[in-house]
Amino acid sequence: MPKKINVAVAGASGMVGGELLDLLEKRRFPVGEFLPFNSGRKAGAVTFGKKKHLCRKPSFAALKKADLVFFASTDDVSERFAKKLAAAGVWCIDDSSRFRLDKTVPLVIPEVNAAAIEPGRRLIAGPNCTLTGAAVALHDIHKKFRIEELRIATYQAVSGAGKSAMRQLEAELKYYLKRGGAPELKYRKFPHPIAFNLFPQVGGFDRNGVSVEENKVEAELKKIWASPRIKISVTAVRVPVLRGHSLSIWAKTRRRWTPAALRSTLAKTPGLEFFSDPYKYPTPLAAVKTSGVKAGRLRVSGTSPREFQLWIVSDNLYKGAALNSVEIAEYLVKNELL
Ligand SMILES: NC(=O)c1ccc[n+]([C@@H]2O[C@H](COP(=O)([O-])OP(=O)(O)OC[C@H]3O[C@@H](n4cnc5c(N)ncnc54)[C@H](OP(=O)(O)O)[C@@H]3O)[C@@H](O)[C@H]2O)c1
Repeated sequence: MPKKINVAVAGASGMVGGELLDLLEKRRFPVGEFLPFNSGRKAGAVTFGKKKHLCRKPSFAALKKADLVFFASTDDVSERFAKKLAAAGVWCIDDSSRFRLDKTVPLVIPEVNAAAIEPGRRLIAGPNCTLTGAAVALHDIHKKFRIEELRIATYQAVSGAGKSAMRQLEAELKYYLKRGGAPELKYRKFPHPIAFNLFPQVGGFDRNGVSVEENKVEAELKKIWASPRIKISVTAVRVPVLRGHSLSIWAKTRRRWTPAALRSTLAKTPGLEFFSDPYKYPTPLAAVKTSGVKAGRLRVSGTSPREFQLWIVSDNLYKGAALNSVEIAEYLVKNELL
């Protein structure tokens, strides 16, 4: 019998939280006591282990009853509790962006940098859902051929912005199909209508005109690959897809390669499903609720013989968040850290 682990989920009623509960059950994570939390703004319940559980507002005392806390709510909730809980001996896996760039907190994708996990550092961050695809798909190529420059254009699903963003797209679609045009919504998650539209803005802009998301992708990818000198340039675009982030990437390497060497590296990269047939490229719809990252349309770029292009897709709620967190937890159990 595996040891039972008391698990708390802050944000159990959210998009990532819902997938987390589902994955913990599907993957038979040895959950003992189960403690779900929401904002407490309205009564909410979640189903886990075939039982309904009432969600509560999180407090330090209530969270501390767990051996492991998944944070899938807001930066502020992670800020208030995660470091204190970790110092008190509770393992914390944080999907918010609050500690991702904190030098004392490992930022982890198990198949890329599990070695960053240490017994003494009980707070572990999971990365932004957008860069996960690139971090996994290009990791082995980076190790072998050293990527020097990386250009990324993103095509990001609305679920990346949480359940209220999904509701905005659904409401706009219904209105458009019934009456045409865009509705006047009381609350908008996005700066523009998203149904039948797209816009090059994910988060606010800094003084140089770079968006929050573009900065996150650059900084977090450098940290995960431990490659601070790599040059990364990103354009993040929100598209009317419900689930699944796609990336079009251009990568220039220091070392030379042949297309065959790239293909064989991609085919063996852990966590990646590589499609070498150009007609079998991955799409966000086909990636929904699938584990791992998918890539296709590999080609030599027209601008340099050391630059190649690749199309990458991953489910932002799975490998981009909940699945990655559950895999971190499984790593802790497997290595007897938890
Ligand atoms: N969506 C993605 O693809 C994705 C990917 C990677 C990381 N993340 C990160 O994961 C976290 C959750 O994202 P999400 O998309 O699941 O958001 P979401 O669908 O909006 O859900 C947010 C969850 O947090 C809870 N919450 C909000 N304010 C709270 C508070 N003050 N105290 C306690 N709980 C609170 C909500 O409870 P109520 O139900 O009561 O409102 C809900 O359960 C965010 O930090 C996000 O940046 C998301």
